[in-house]
Amino acid sequence: MTEATPNVDMEKLVSLCRRRGFVFPSSEIYGGLSSSWDYGPLGVELKRNIKEAWWRAVVRERDDMVGLDTSILMHPRVWAASGHLERMSDSLVECKNCHLRWRADEVKGETCPSCDGELTESRQFNVMFKTFMGPVEEDASVVYLRPETAQGIFVNFQNVVNTARKRLPFGIAQMGKSFRNEITTGNFIFRSREFEQMEIEFFVKPGTDGEWFRYWVEERLKWYVDLGIRKENLRLRPHGQEELAHYASMCSDVEYLFPMGWAELEGIANRGDYDLRQHTAISGKSLEYYDDATREHFIPYVIEPSAGVDRSALAFLADAYTEEPDKDEVRVLLRFHPDIAPLKVAVLPLSRKENLAAYARDVYADLRREWRVEFDDTQSIGRRYRRQDEIGTPFCVTVDFQSLEDNRATIRERDTMNQIRVPISELKSTLSAKLGGEDLFVLPPGGEIWKVEKED
Ligand code: GAP
Repeated sequence: MTEATPNVDMEKLVSLCRRRGFVFPSSEIYGGLSSSWDYGPLGVELKRNIKEAWWRAVVRERDDMVGLDTSILMHPRVWAASGHLERMSDSLVECKNCHLRWRADEVKGETCPSCDGELTESRQFNVMFKTFMGPVEEDASVVYLRPETAQGIFVNFQNVVNTARKRLPFGIAQMGKSFRNEITTGNFIFRSREFEQMEIEFFVKPGTDGEWFRYWVEERLKWYVDLGIRKENLRLRPHGQEELAHYASMCSDVEYLFPMGWAELEGIANRGDYDLRQHTAISGKSLEYYDDATREHFIPYVIEPSAGVDRSALAFLADAYTEEPDKDEVRVLLRFHPDIAPLKVAVLPLSRKENLAAYARDVYADLRREWRVEFDDTQSIGRRYRRQDEIGTPFCVTVDFQSLEDNRATIRERDTMNQIRVPISELKSTLSAKLGGEDLFVLPPGGEIWKVEKED
């Protein structure tokens, strides 16, 4: 069996993201801030689409899940209870020569990976960001930026049980920013100090946790595949005992073949009753569940699928990246699943002449009521198509002078470059069916095959 190779190298992807407005270095005009990134006009749409697809799959389409949005700053005792204060630390070594710092587990040999200098003994470094609440910087006012969104869910467990009318098994989902003062960052948006997570805490009766763990592993893998990630670029990697987080009895990573190699995209852990039990002990408030069927009180177990929004964005970008020979050139396209694509449709009038431009603007105004649509009347039609290909827009609608007479427009599909001509009155329903995954070039009623136009 040949070893799988990444779909695209990182440099190409970073350059496309920068050039087209997906991701910019943070504070660029000041020289950038190490490993901090800003999402541009297309990046923000991509991220929103990822989060929306996740929320739809794990909350809206299920009756055993509810959502939550808790604050980033929490009572400091939360982190004592969860074990993060004591244990969320990495082993750090420093080079005595160039003073670069490394995570001890990332250094393969005995010396500095950068200059071969001698390394210090390793010491523990807590990765939680510390700050102060209120105007006085004193120990009593220390708070932390949350390193995971999960704890906001655990401390609200009883609030949700009391208000949401959910019985076990049920889950709580939350997405939001988390912060970790990582020793080493890098690989673009793969590892940064400020990132977004999408986390589920799924509460189950003890004894059924093994079964639910397997269920969620499959469910989460399927989510990526349903949204177009190729199966061969995904794999599961169960954790060995020695690498399990302090709260987990079992964990499997969903790994993706990123441009720099296989790495964690999402972790699915069995946290048992660790967190609810700890919070009960430290807060003195009971987080037990009462099962009215069996009349038992117990602390539920929890299965936690925890994904990163930024890592998902990187995986969707890398997986979609495609280069195709195009005459003497190379056509670059992002084959995004329509749900993920930042723009769904682009409206391109063939000319800027007044009557055609006005007609095209009407078409645009109507379509953008449904989707994120772009209107573009600059440059040649060929270059406009190339731009839409490169940002992954599934469909372009071209309006030409004939449209003024026959009230029809051309839909051009990104992946095949096939074109069909449909009545304007059926444009929305046709696009809607195609964006919903209907076989792309089955003709709509009244549609006719349009000869493939020369794209230059
Ligand atoms: N609540 C469990 C938890 O936080 P984790 O494996 O440490 O588990 C879950 O993080 C996910 O969050 C990871 O799979 C990854 O997608 C994302 N993530 C973690 N640290 C990150 C970082 N420094 N930069 C970007 N994403 C990160």
